[in-house]
Amino acid sequence: MQETQPAATAVPAKKPVVFSGIQPTGTMTLGNYLGAVRNWVQMQDDYDCIYPIVDMHSLTIRQEPKVLRSNILNAFALLLACGIDPQKSVTFIQSHVDNHAVLSWVLGCSTQFGELSRMTQFKDKSAKHADNINAGLFTYPVLMAADILLYQTDLVPVGVDQKQHLELTRDVAIRFNNLYGNTFKVPEAYIPKAGAKIMSLADPTKKMSKSDENPNGFITILDPADTIIRKFKRAVTDSEAQVVYREGKDGINNLMTIYSCVTGKTMEEIQREFDGKGYGDFKLAVGEVVADHLKPIRENFARLSADKGYLEEVYRRGAQQAQQRSSRTMEKVFRKIGFVR
Ligand code: TYM
Repeated sequence: MQETQPAATAVPAKKPVVFSGIQPTGTMTLGNYLGAVRNWVQMQDDYDCIYPIVDMHSLTIRQEPKVLRSNILNAFALLLACGIDPQKSVTFIQSHVDNHAVLSWVLGCSTQFGELSRMTQFKDKSAKHADNINAGLFTYPVLMAADILLYQTDLVPVGVDQKQHLELTRDVAIRFNNLYGNTFKVPEAYIPKAGAKIMSLADPTKKMSKSDENPNGFITILDPADTIIRKFKRAVTDSEAQVVYREGKDGINNLMTIYSCVTGKTMEEIQREFDGKGYGDFKLAVGEVVADHLKPIRENFARLSADKGYLEEVYRRGAQQAQQRSSRTMEKVFRKIGFVR
């Protein structure tokens, strides 16, 4: 009888590392969700994912301490409610892991004033908060680079507004590697084809943002169904009454994008579905599919946000994992730059 060889134990291939974060400033919008968080959820099975609530970034704008504390916990609960699974992904609160601030300092010393001055988000935010153009607002992209590079990240799923920060992160990593020898993985941005820039419902030439003064401009993930439907019914469109995706029809293009992201239908299918129908029918349909899609998230959130003990257990464990992983990079950095260990 022929002896059978024991099967070679398969060494599991290392999954590429995915990293992305979200600020805890107010409730996540439909833009944050479709542009980023929904993709994070979908990537969890195929990638080694790390998703923090980036509370340190939110200090660049003045925050009320009590409100910030509650926003951080709610943002964390909301991330889990959207489907981030702590059994699959590392999820934590940025300020619980010191390495982010430490690496940010090191990288800041090799990032140029000129490069940071070119960041459009810095220009926009300093125009908007002219009374508080703090150094943190200016060096914000360095902290973001530190977040990403600490974990030897391969892919960073973000909306289009973060593209310039990602390019800077790559430049910083390449420059450091050239100076000190290979230290950081150079990450790639992952920007979704649809939904990378969801526009305001009140002014479809502007990005949907939770800091919009007009609450009709944005949908938050926790808006009740009737609010969602009302906001979509009021959405600014054009006077053509034709549901067609075309240049110049910003409002309709945005609504079609949202409808397509949520239903998976193509623009052609949507066009056919609403052929001969008015904007009223279309807006109602968009409102309804969004409200339906977000319903389970709202329910999960109500359950999770009430369970402070569970949340604490999850973010503590996440911080330990993140601390451990990021310390490996930090040790390497300290050795390379010549610090005594
Ligand atoms: P933040 O908190 O502003 O937004 C979180 C994510 O949502 C995306 N996003 C949008 N996508 C489509 N349409 C919109 N209207 C829209 N608005 C926001 C953002 O592109 C982002 O992906 N600096 C980051 C947070 C951050 C980070 C990082 C991200 C800190 N460190 C490291 C990636 C990697 C920010 O302020 O995102």
